[in-house]
Amino acid sequence: MKEFSRTISWSVLSQDELDSKDLMLVNAAKDATIGSWSPYSRFRVGAALLLEDGTVVTGSNQENAAYPSGLCAERTALFTAGHLHPDKAVTALAIAARNENGYTAQPITPCGACRQVLSEAESRGGHPIRFILYGTEGTMVLEGGTESILPFCFGADSMK
Ligand code: THU
Repeated sequence: MKEFSRTISWSVLSQDELDSKDLMLVNAAKDATIGSWSPYSRFRVGAALLLEDGTVVTGSNQENAAYPSGLCAERTALFTAGHLHPDKAVTALAIAARNENGYTAQPITPCGACRQVLSEAESRGGHPIRFILYGTEGTMVLEGGTESILPFCFGADSMK
């Protein structure tokens, strides 16, 4: 028998501890919540991607009366970046979310389907993605790439 294990680590930072690039991306994610179409959940999510050349691509959740037809903020941003900048690696993702009481106290993390799409964006770019997840009580920064939030992921290599 062989045993394996894996640990993940992250930091939680206050607003004034964030470095200027991370803060810029968090602010872009907050701004992106303005474009959210979320009349059903009333939960506005904004995502901001940083590309390798400094380009920022944002997205917000887009809901639909036929609920499963909607799309999360993260995938809206990822597919926009894939379309507009197919050759530029994604290096970081910031997420912010708010409801009628304001921004969430705790950061939100990408859903499973978004993690799957993030994983492919990371393989495409060949760069671990840095996650900067905003909450009013602290921003979580995770540097382990998608592997740390979606271990044992299915990907193109799985089909070899
Ligand atoms: N949502 C996102 O956009 N990103 C997440 O990481 C979690 C959930 C959206 C989907 C739906 O429009 C609303 O938030 C409530 O689930």
